[in-house]
Amino acid sequence: MGSLINKENDVKEPKDAILYINGVLKLLPNGLAHLTLLEYLRDVGLTGTKLGCGEGGCGACTVMVSYFDHNSKKCVHQAINACLAPLYSVEGMHVLTAEGLGNRKFGLHPVQESLASRHGSQCGFCTPGFVMSMYALLRSTKTPPTEEQIEESLAGNLCRCTGYRPILDAFRVFAKSNDLLYTNGSVPSQEPKDGEFICPSTGKPCSCGPTQETINQADGSCKGYKAVSYNEIDGSSYTNKEIIFPPQLILRKTSYLSLNGFGGIKWIRPLLLKHVLDLKSRYPDAKLVVGNTELGIETRLKKIHYPVFVAVTHVPELNILTVNDDGVEIGAGVRITELRKFLKKVIEERSVYETSACKAIIEQIKWFAGTQIRNVASVGGNICTASPISDLNPLWMASRAKFRIVDCKGNVRDTLAEKFFLGYRKVDLGSNEILLSVFVPWTRKFEFVKEFKQAHRRDDDIALVNAGMRVYLEKHKQKWIVSDACIVYGGVGPVSLLAVKTNGCLVGKEWNKELLQNSLETLQRDVLMSDDAPGGMVEFRKSLTLSFFFKFFLWVSHQMDGQDLFNESVPVSHLSAIESFHRPSVMGSQDYDVPKQGTAVGSPEVHMSARLQVTGEAEYTDDTPMGPAGLHAALILSKKPHARLLSINDSGARSSPGFAGIFFAKDIPGYNSTGPVVEDEEVFASEIVTCVGQVIGVVVADTHENAKLAARKVNVEYEVLPAILSIEDAVKAKSFHPNSYRALSKGDVDLCFKSDKCHKIIEGEVHIGGQEHFYLEPQSTFVWTMDGGNEVHMISSTQAPQKHQKYVAQVLGLPMSKVVCKVKRLGGGFGGKETRSDFFAAVAAVPAYILNRPVKLVLDRDIDMMVSGQRHSFFGKYKVGFTNEGKVLALDLEIYNNGGNSLDLSLPILERALYHSDNVYEIPHVRVNGSVCFTNYPSNTAFRGFGVPQGMLVTENWIQRIAMEVKKSPEEIRELNFISEGSILRYGQRVEDCTLQRLWDQLKKSCNFLKVRSEVDKFNLCNRWKKRGIAMIPTKFGISFNRKFMNQAGALVQVYTDGTVLVTHGGVEMGQGLRTKVAQIAASEFEIPLSSVFISETSTDKVPNASPTAASASSDMYGAAVLDACKQLKARMEPIATLKKHTSFEKLVNACYLERVDLSAHGFYIVPDIGFNWTTGKGHPFRYFTYGAAFAEVEIDTLTGDFHTRAADVILDLGFSINPAIDVGQIEGAFVQGMGWVALEELKWGDDAHKWVPPGCLFTCGPGNYKIPSVNDVPFKFKVSLLKDAPNDKAVHSSKAVGEPPFFLASSVFFAIKDAIIAARVESGSHGWFPLDNPATPERIRMACADDFTAPFSKPDFRPKLSV
Ligand SMILES: Cc1cc2nc3c(=O)[nH]c(=O)nc-3n(C[C@H](O)[C@H](O)[C@H](O)COP(=O)(O)OP(=O)(O)OC[C@H]3O[C@@H](n4cnc5c(N)ncnc54)[C@H](O)[C@@H]3O)c2cc1C
Ligand code: FES
Ligand code: FES
Repeated sequence: MGSLINKENDVKEPKDAILYINGVLKLLPNGLAHLTLLEYLRDVGLTGTKLGCGEGGCGACTVMVSYFDHNSKKCVHQAINACLAPLYSVEGMHVLTAEGLGNRKFGLHPVQESLASRHGSQCGFCTPGFVMSMYALLRSTKTPPTEEQIEESLAGNLCRCTGYRPILDAFRVFAKSNDLLYTNGSVPSQEPKDGEFICPSTGKPCSCGPTQETINQADGSCKGYKAVSYNEIDGSSYTNKEIIFPPQLILRKTSYLSLNGFGGIKWIRPLLLKHVLDLKSRYPDAKLVVGNTELGIETRLKKIHYPVFVAVTHVPELNILTVNDDGVEIGAGVRITELRKFLKKVIEERSVYETSACKAIIEQIKWFAGTQIRNVASVGGNICTASPISDLNPLWMASRAKFRIVDCKGNVRDTLAEKFFLGYRKVDLGSNEILLSVFVPWTRKFEFVKEFKQAHRRDDDIALVNAGMRVYLEKHKQKWIVSDACIVYGGVGPVSLLAVKTNGCLVGKEWNKELLQNSLETLQRDVLMSDDAPGGMVEFRKSLTLSFFFKFFLWVSHQMDGQDLFNESVPVSHLSAIESFHRPSVMGSQDYDVPKQGTAVGSPEVHMSARLQVTGEAEYTDDTPMGPAGLHAALILSKKPHARLLSINDSGARSSPGFAGIFFAKDIPGYNSTGPVVEDEEVFASEIVTCVGQVIGVVVADTHENAKLAARKVNVEYEVLPAILSIEDAVKAKSFHPNSYRALSKGDVDLCFKSDKCHKIIEGEVHIGGQEHFYLEPQSTFVWTMDGGNEVHMISSTQAPQKHQKYVAQVLGLPMSKVVCKVKRLGGGFGGKETRSDFFAAVAAVPAYILNRPVKLVLDRDIDMMVSGQRHSFFGKYKVGFTNEGKVLALDLEIYNNGGNSLDLSLPILERALYHSDNVYEIPHVRVNGSVCFTNYPSNTAFRGFGVPQGMLVTENWIQRIAMEVKKSPEEIRELNFISEGSILRYGQRVEDCTLQRLWDQLKKSCNFLKVRSEVDKFNLCNRWKKRGIAMIPTKFGISFNRKFMNQAGALVQVYTDGTVLVTHGGVEMGQGLRTKVAQIAASEFEIPLSSVFISETSTDKVPNASPTAASASSDMYGAAVLDACKQLKARMEPIATLKKHTSFEKLVNACYLERVDLSAHGFYIVPDIGFNWTTGKGHPFRYFTYGAAFAEVEIDTLTGDFHTRAADVILDLGFSINPAIDVGQIEGAFVQGMGWVALEELKWGDDAHKWVPPGCLFTCGPGNYKIPSVNDVPFKFKVSLLKDAPNDKAVHSSKAVGEPPFFLASSVFFAIKDAIIAARVESGSHGWFPLDNPATPERIRMACADDFTAPFSKPDFRPKLSV
C-alpha cells in the first residue's frame, strides 16, 4: 500500500492513497509513480479512455476529475488529459470516465445519447474524449453553457472522421437558456427541492454539488437553477442518477504523500511551502510539478529521467491570487484556467486603464492550448520551462512583471521578468530556489499592453511567433511622447527576445508615422535569424515581427483616438488590421431526400456502433485483454535515411528489465519480404536501410514501456550512403521505382500548340505536400498462436485483413489456411491501414510465433507518423494551350509522386492521378505521363482520394492561371470547359449520366455566387488588411479499384431461428458506416427491422480473399454481395413463404428450418464492365463517376496569414443514398480533412528545405507540431446537399460511392484563399499570376500577400520551402 507519512501537524492522517473511479474506491498501491492516469485506467480495464497521442494534443484520453476545494467549499469538476496526468496527481480525487457516465445496460447519459443519435460518432475512437469534455463543461458550469463555451471547450479534442459539425449539433442542445425552446414536454422540468443541486448535464437532481451543509458553510452561490429537460435526447433510458461526487472525499483531508515508482522515481506531495523548500534542499535536482504538461513531454517523449517529483499543487503559498494597490499577485502554482477566471473578475472591478496587461493576458490565454491543458498547466510551469515560444513570457516581460523567488532557507528575492530568462530553457533560478509568484503592476493611464500570436492553427497550437508589447504615452509639449516602451517577441530566437534597440528608439519619440517607420527599420536589426534557424520559416517569422508591430501601432493609435492633440487616427480601412478574431457558432444545414426502399434502405439510420462508442464500450485492437503471458513489442528502427548496417549490438536490450526476446532478419522463419504490388520491402532490414524509421528488428518485453526501453538500448552501427530526399533530387538522379512510368494521350498535343487556334500557352509547376492520415487509433495488432503454434490468430487495426493473413503466413512459412485475421472496428483508417498495417502484423507475428506467446504491437503516435507513410507529395509540370476566351485546347503534363523506399501502392496512386488530371474538363489534345520516384523516406501510401486530389489540384492550378491570363473568373473558365454527356475521356471511356452541370447550376444558386462575389469585392475595397475570397470547384471521381481482379466481394448471411440475421462480409468498419449500410440492405431485403440484423466482425475465416476496404467501393460491392446472399436465401424460403401461413419473419424462418432449408448463404459480386490496358492506354477503368461541386468563402488576415472559412456549400450526386445521414457525415468529414490538406497540415522532413531537421527525419511527428483541423476550423456556415432525383443504375439500390469523392472539394478553400490573396496583392501593385503551393498555410498566405512588411525579406514571387 502507498505509504503516507504524516508530516503535517495540522492534517489528519488517512491510511492509504486513494482514488475514486466512476464512484468506486480504489486503493493506490505504492510503486506506481511512473504511471499516468491513462495507463492505470486502461490497466484496470477501463479501456473507454483512449490513447491517441500521449502528448496532450488529441483529447482522446479526456476524463473528468473532481475534487472538493476546501477553500471555496465547492466541488471542482475539470476535464483533463489522462495521458499527461501522473497517477498520483489525482490522489484523493474522483475520476469519471465515459463508462461511468452511462452504458448499454443501464442507459446512456443524455450527452452520450445526443452524440450517438445525431451522428456525432463515426469511428468512435475520439468519441469518449468528446463526451467527457462536454460532460465536464456541464458539470463545471452553474448555468447551461453558451454555444461559444461549448465550442471552446472542445478545442482540445480532435476528430479525424466527422468534420465536427454533428458533434457541435449534438452538444448544442445543452447550450440552452430557455426551457421552452428545447423541451417537448415529454420530461417535465424538475424544480429543485430546497437545497437540492440540479446537475446541468442532466437537468436532474444530483448530489455532485455541495451538500446542504457545505452550501451553508460557503456563500450559498451553489444554489440550483431551474432544471432543463430534453426532447429526443431526454435521457429517458438513463435510469440511474448521475454518479455522485463521493461524500467521503468532501470529508477527507488532503495529506502529505511520499510514493515511489519504477526506476527509483519518487513522488512527494508536500502541503506547505516550508516542506517544499525542505525537499528542495534535500533533493536539489527535484522537479517541482504542477500540471506535468511540460515534464510529461520531457519524460515520455524526450525520455529524460527525473528521479524526484515534488507535486506542489496543494501548497497554499503557491496558489495565491491577490489584488493589491499596485497590481495583482499570482502564485506560481496557479493554473491557467484559474488565472483567466481571476483576471476576468479583476478587469470587471478595476478601472479600465489599470488592466491593460490583464486584458492582454486573458486574450492570450484564449489561444493557449486546449481546455484540458489549461485546467492543469500552471503559470510557474510555463515560466520556468522558459520555452522560447511561451505565450505568456513575452507578456510578463512587456508588462513589467516581477517574479518572486524563494530559496531553501526561505530568503525571498524579486527579479524583473525581463531579466529572468537567460537562454534556451535557462532561467535565473538556482537549484536551491523556486518561483513563488508573479506580480503584475497595474497599467497607468495611457499605458497600453497588447498580445500577439500566430500559429499554424488558431486553436490549441503553440506559437510560431508571439509577442507582448507595451507603450506608455505622456503628453509633453503638445505632443504624445513615448515615455516608456517594451517590445518582446517569442519564437524568433532561443529565448523570448527583448527588442532592445527598438525599445530604445521608441522612448522619447512622438507617437506618429515617423516613429512607426523608424521602429520597423530598427526591428530588423533586433530580430536576427540565420537562414537555417531551427523551426524554419525565417522570412515569415521575420515579417511577422514587423506585422505585429504595425498592428500594435494601429491599435494604440486607435485607443488614443479622440485624445486631445492626438493626430494619428487610424483610417477606417486600416481598422481591419486590429479587429480581433471572433467566430460565430457553426451553423450547419443538410439537405437530402429520403427515398426509402423497404424497411431500412434510404433511411438516415444511426451508425450501428454509435451507442457503444459513446460509452467507451466499443472495443478496438488495443482494448483486447491479453492475459498474463502476453508480451508487448517495440520496433528497432533505422536512424539513417540510407546506410549499410555494419553491426548490431543488442546486449543492452537483453539485460533490460522485463526483456523477453529480440528478433532480426535472420530469425524470420519464412520469407522476409512483403508488398502489395511487388514484394520489395523487407520485414526486417537485413543489410541496407533505405529510410529513417525502417524496421531493423523487434523487441518484446512484459510491458510496453519496457519493450521501448530495451529497443532504445540496441546499438546499430551504420555506414552512411547518399540519400535522395526530394522528388526534385529523384528526378535529377532518375531515381524511379522500376516499371513505374505511365502515360496517357489523346489527339496531337504538339500540333495543337503550334496551330493558330491556340492563342496562348502557359507553363508552370505545382508543388503539393503530403498529408498524415492521423487516424486517431494508431497502428495496432495483436497476434497469438494456438495449438502449440500450429495456428496463428490476430486481431488487427487494418483495412485489409486478408493481406494480414497473407503476409503473416508468408513471414512465418505457414499456409494461409492456418492464419486468421479478425477486425472488429478501426479507429479510423483513411487508406493508412490498407497496406502499411500488414507490415506491423508481420513484425509482431515473428516473436508471437517463435516464443509461442501473445504479442501486442501498438505504435506510439510519433513512431506511427514517422514510419507508416503518408499521402504522397506530388510535383506537376504543365504546359497548356488555350484560346483567348479560355477554352482549353491542349495539355502536356508531367507528374511525379514521392513513392518513398518501397513501391507499396504508389503506382496505382500515380495512375489515378493521371486518369483524373482532367478533373471535369474536356481537353481535345492531351499528353500526360508520370513516374513514381524512389526516395529515402518511408513508403508513402493510400490516403482518401488515392492520388486523385493531387492530379486534380494540378489541373485547377492551371485553370486558375488561365483565368488570370484571359481576365475572367476561374468559375467561368471551369464552366466553359466542362465535359458533358457523351464526352470521350482521354482513356476512351464515355461519359454517361453526367450530372455535373446540374450540380454546378444548383450550387451557384444555393451559394448565391454573384451576390457573394459583389459583397466580397465590396468588403475588399473597404478593408486594407483583411481580404475575402471565394471559389467554386467541381469534381468527378471514378469508382472501382484500378486492378480488375480486386473488384470482387464476398459475404456470408446466416438466418437464425429467432428471425435475426447475422451478416459477415469482407469489408471493414472504420467509421464510414459500411456495416450500417450493408445491414440496411439486408433488412430491407428480408423486410425486417434493422435491429434484427447484426454484423459482428470481419474475419478471414468467414469470408476469404477479400479486397481491402478502400476505393470508396465497399458499400457498392459488399452491399451487392450481401444482397446476392439474401436473394439466395429468399429463393430457398420462397416455397414456404408462398404458403402465406406465417405472420412474422421469425415464424417463416422456423418453418424453413423445420423443412431443412439451408439458412446460410454465401453471396458474391463482381463489378461488371470494367477493364483497362496500360499498353494501349485505353479502356473502361471505372464503373461510374461520382460528381460534386463546392463553394467556399474565406477571410484572410494579410498581415499574419491567419484565415478562416466563412462558408462552405457542398453538393454531391450520390444517387439514391442508402443512408443519407452517413453520407452527409462522409462528405463533411472528407471536406474538413481536405481543408487540412489544402490549408493546415504540412509535413516537414529533414531535406534541403529543412536543414535544421536531421536528414530523412520527420519533424512534424505528433499533434504538437502537425495540425489537423480542430473544431474551430469548421466553416462558420456549412451546408451539405445531396442531389435529388438522380438514381444510379450502376450500383446497389441506385446509390453511389461517397468516401473519397468529396475530399477534393475542399480545394475550394484553397482557391478561395488564393482569390483573397489576389485582392491583397492588387493593393500592393502586384497584378500578375503568382505561385501558391499546397498547403496554403499561414506562412504561404502571408508571404504571398507581399507588401512593405515582407519586402525586406522576400520578393513578391517568393515560394516558402516545402517538403515534396
Ligand atoms: C498540448 C500542449 C499544448 C500547449 N500549449 C501551449 C500554449 O499554447 N502556450 C504555451 O505557452 N505553452 C503551451 N504548452 C506548454 C505548457 O502547457 C505550459 O508551459 C504550462 O504552463 C506548463 O505548466 P505545468 O504546470 O504543466 O508545468 P510542469 O510540467 O508541471 O512543469 C514545468 C517545469 O516548470 C518547473 N516548475 C513548475 N513550477 C515551478 C516553480 N514554482 N518553481 C520552479 N520551477 C517550477 C518544473 O519543475 C518543470 O521543470 C502546451 C503544452 C502541451 C502539452
Ligand atoms: S492521448 Fe492524451 S491527448 Fe492524445
Ligand atoms: S469519430 Fe472522431 S476520430 Fe473517428
